[in-house]
Amino acid sequence: MSDDRRNACFLTLEGLDGAGKSTHVQWMADALRRAGIELVCTREPGGTALGEALRELVLREPMDLRTETLLMFAARNEHLRTVILPALERGQWVLCDRFTDATYAYQGGGRGLGPAPIAALEAWVQGEFAPDRTFLFDVPLAVARQRLDEGRDAPDRFEREGAAFFERTRAAYHARVAAHPERFTVIDSTQSIDHTRGVLAAELRALLASHGRDPGGL
Ligand code: TMP
Repeated sequence: MSDDRRNACFLTLEGLDGAGKSTHVQWMADALRRAGIELVCTREPGGTALGEALRELVLREPMDLRTETLLMFAARNEHLRTVILPALERGQWVLCDRFTDATYAYQGGGRGLGPAPIAALEAWVQGEFAPDRTFLFDVPLAVARQRLDEGRDAPDRFEREGAAFFERTRAAYHARVAAHPERFTVIDSTQSIDHTRGVLAAELRALLASHGRDPGGL
């Protein structure tokens, strides 16, 4: 591994639709840049021209569950090889709105595929590669639902799912936390935006310090 790669950091954000993740992603990116980090802020599915086209399909078109899972990984493979890994090799940090934990949660849990096919695709596409740190924005289902109902006018295929789907998705996220406690930071996203920002600022300060970086104005 190059020195640049060792100094880089791959951060991912996860959570149910309506958990408040999108409220915080730009703020986190700005905060890291203020602290002097060269950052690529991106998302899945998406992050490349092909990935964004696949995103449109997967969020709108009815399809078989295996097709849905394969398209998530097709978009991810393109994103990983053309955006994420090159950025990390240059020593940049990458902040990604969703990654493979979302496939375990939504396809594995919500849709009921289970973890085994996802683990096989993950091994093929990623090998041992995984995020350095994952922030899970966690809220009870009722709160996520209320935020979704307030905020969106044209819900996508996932946002239209019912309570049982999101209960299974949330449980699968919690199973990921239990399996990889060293990687996850669970953010109680029922709190106010200001409170959550305070928590995130403290987490980012600690992360920067652990990489020998000055937390600066954070
Ligand atoms: P977003 O609204 O957070 O951008 O996410 C788009 C939707 O895609 C969201 O409902 C979760 C879903 N999704 C999956 O089902 N599996 C995945 O692997 C990813 C990355 C997202």
